[in-house]
Amino acid sequence: MALLEVDEVVVRFGGVTAVNEAAFTADRGSITGLIGPNGAGKTTCFNVITGLQKPTKGRIRYRDRDVTGWPVHKRARHGVGRTFQRLEAFGSLTVRDNVRVAQEIHGGPLAWFGRSRGGVDMLLDRVGILDYADERADSIPTGTARLLELARCLASDPQLLLLDEPSSGLDETETDAFGELLVELAGEGCAVLMVEHDMDLVMSVCNDIHVLDFGRIIASGTPAEIRADADVQRAYLGYSESDESAHDTSVMEVVTP
Ligand SMILES: Nc1ncnc2c1ncn2[C@@H]1O[C@H](COP(=O)(O)OP(=O)(O)O)[C@@H](O)[C@H]1O
Ligand SMILES: [Mg+2]
Repeated sequence: MALLEVDEVVVRFGGVTAVNEAAFTADRGSITGLIGPNGAGKTTCFNVITGLQKPTKGRIRYRDRDVTGWPVHKRARHGVGRTFQRLEAFGSLTVRDNVRVAQEIHGGPLAWFGRSRGGVDMLLDRVGILDYADERADSIPTGTARLLELARCLASDPQLLLLDEPSSGLDETETDAFGELLVELAGEGCAVLMVEHDMDLVMSVCNDIHVLDFGRIIASGTPAEIRADADVQRAYLGYSESDESAHDTSVMEVVTP
């Protein structure tokens, strides 16, 4: 059974149906991508999974239990970790202390006794920002702040890792390293669920991809299947390569000098 099961979830905000009968799963050892145009309902899905948003209809199952009624902190305690689209670190604390605080919040006094600064620094090293350990969090570049978010999340030792646009602000080298880290985390048994706009990253690391459009899942499959899907091409490009119009070269002739 999948670690996470999103079962026919509907979220309505007044007249807006942000999520419409969405159903998908995320498995241990696997990276699942959730993609789609702006406003498609991706972040709302994440909010339902983490407990920030109550669904109008549908259920969330996690580790074989119905957690739909569980509050955010209870899900977090049971291994649901999440990074946010906006950055959440404490600006006046150092990078290292931000991770330390995250670890202590999650683990309580036992974590404080059981884990050393070495553990925190290992996490910083793992995400590639150990050089910034002593800098204030509000003084670091955006890409570094994103990686700090990830380190803070990993400090809680999540079984399900939800990442909302994690690569925004990362340069190409950082994105490549980030992709490798995700594959590593999945290899260790983590279920990674990622909302991401960088299609190269999504296509290279995801095992499965679900495409949301106007709150509905319009396609699910492997990267190769998603790339070839006509509905996905329409949602993203406004037309499909198999549509007649896509082969109409008259428009191009007009702009050719
Ligand atoms: N708290 C809210 N109140 C009202 N409408 C919302 C709220 N959150 C999101 N929406 C609307 O729901 C839709 C989906 O938004 P969102 O989940 O943020 O999309 P995405 O993350 O895919 O860009 C959008 O139309 C957005 O305006
Ligand atoms: Mg969003």
